Amino acid sequence: KKVVLAYSGGLDTSVIVRWLQETYNCEVVTFTADIGQGEEVEPARAKAEALGVKEIYIDDLREEFVRDYVFPMFRANAIYEGEYLLGTSIARPLIAKRMIEIANEVGADAISHGATGKGNDQIRFELGAYALKPGVAVIAPWREWDLTSRETLMAYCAEHDIPVDFGGGKKKSPYSMDANLLHISYEGGILEDPYAEAEEDMWRWSVSPENAPDEPTYLEFTYKKGDIVAIDGKAMTPAEVLTYLNEVGNANGIGRLDIVENRYVGMKSRGCYETPGGTIMMPAHRAIESITLDREVAHMKDSMMPKYAELIYNGYWWSPERQMMQNLIDETQEVVNGEVRVKLYKGNVTVVGRKSEDSLFDENIATFEDDAGAYDQKDAAGFIKLNALRLRIAANKGRNIL
Ligand code: ARG
Ligand code: SIN
Repeated sequence: KKVVLAYSGGLDTSVIVRWLQETYNCEVVTFTADIGQGEEVEPARAKAEALGVKEIYIDDLREEFVRDYVFPMFRANAIYEGEYLLGTSIARPLIAKRMIEIANEVGADAISHGATGKGNDQIRFELGAYALKPGVAVIAPWREWDLTSRETLMAYCAEHDIPVDFGGGKKKSPYSMDANLLHISYEGGILEDPYAEAEEDMWRWSVSPENAPDEPTYLEFTYKKGDIVAIDGKAMTPAEVLTYLNEVGNANGIGRLDIVENRYVGMKSRGCYETPGGTIMMPAHRAIESITLDREVAHMKDSMMPKYAELIYNGYWWSPERQMMQNLIDETQEVVNGEVRVKLYKGNVTVVGRKSEDSLFDENIATFEDDAGAYDQKDAAGFIKLNALRLRIAANKGRNIL
């Protein structure tokens, strides 16, 4: 029996390797991905080897992650519950997909992960896995074992010869964290009191807005079909775009968020997030859409957005309804081409300009000056009067009277 484990190389998932070997008497295949979490993935190889793992997968998925997951999601302007840019949510379907590909390659019939039984991540991994390999078996150690405290976990390490410095040797962070090219998240610790302000030294991916430079930074984005393909005239791949925007956003104090969100399992959870690049991309994409999309197309797309965001949050990336919405969204982006200029200053992102060959903005019509007959203002009288017809009928029937 073989099981593919999503392995970070940290202490918790190292314990899972040993626990799977002992509890299920199975061969563990580890899979570690670089999705831009900012930590070396190569050390995971030696650690897995030390645990007796024979098949070790280490992949650089940064480009695929941004190109096939983050960018498609940003075409939809997806935001969960008005604030969350879905940084963790959007990485899970890729990890699920890669786990299944590996399972098929090595002939494994089970997958395993280190998510707890309380959260969203278990759902995202497993819905993805079932969608891509319907007969797969899932082993979620956190839902099964009794190593629920730091002490029992340490005792298990001692008993089973797992070097505790697999945690990285560093002092363990007081937060449950997750990072990738789109964001870093913090949960737990003092954040479990939703009234307690996060300590300044928790934030790792942005300077505080108070300490950001006194001079603004300007950027110009070139869009093709809704995706940024160049910054300040320099062509970049999707992962390069996000890496660069994270740097510039970080320096300008952009992208911090502190929220209480509704998890799919039903509980509320407090989380802090840093999404520097994503926080810059969101209004910039809306700006290029603002001149290129038809009003009704834009509004209809917007009305679907909360549903699309919820699908991703709840783990339904690999569902037919997400694919259906994606097809619709992608079709709208054919005309979303052009340039957007943004200004970054002490935590703020301000769009200051937009232009496009596909622009629907007509200066001749919109002008407050003489439009030389481009728009006949007299037409507006009938437009308004007919739209008022039902209001006037109702008023004549005695409704709406002051
Ligand atoms: N609450 C966020 C979400 O559901 C972040 C989850 C963070 N995951 C983690 N393993 N620390 O998307
Ligand atoms: C976890 O429970 O493993 C992390 C939080 C989440 O998945 O929502």
